[in-house]
Amino acid sequence: MVYNGPLFASGELDLDGAPDDMPGVRFRAALCRCGQSENKPFCDNSQLTAGFEDYGAVGEKGDGLNATGAKLDIKPLIDGPLLIQGNLTIRAGSGRIAWEGTKTALCRCGASKNKPFCDGSHKDADFRSG
Ligand code: FES
Repeated sequence: MVYNGPLFASGELDLDGAPDDMPGVRFRAALCRCGQSENKPFCDNSQLTAGFEDYGAVGEKGDGLNATGAKLDIKPLIDGPLLIQGNLTIRAGSGRIAWEGTKTALCRCGASKNKPFCDGSHKDADFRSG
């Protein structure tokens, strides 16, 4: 996770809806966290003009890694968060390993008060992913 910026995902990624002509996203992707990208779920640097602020702190530790298989399934929900399944390690903005787990929902609307996790604020924010 980047200070005031996107979520950089790396590993063996299975990003739902990723275009076939972008094979690189099976290994690395910069995913929007501010909700303003014109190219969701990818980051297009809209956070720079949107005034998105997040210091990359993570207030939870997670349940640990234990999913079978190496793939990380990333499913952008319509008008909602990124649903993640598989072994996931989240590094705080400082680079420190902050959270490890096998299932979570990450905010992509920019409004969560518990970033990087979704807290349901996308509904009040009237977030539109499309
Ligand atoms: S996607 Fe941002 S709070 Fe749910």
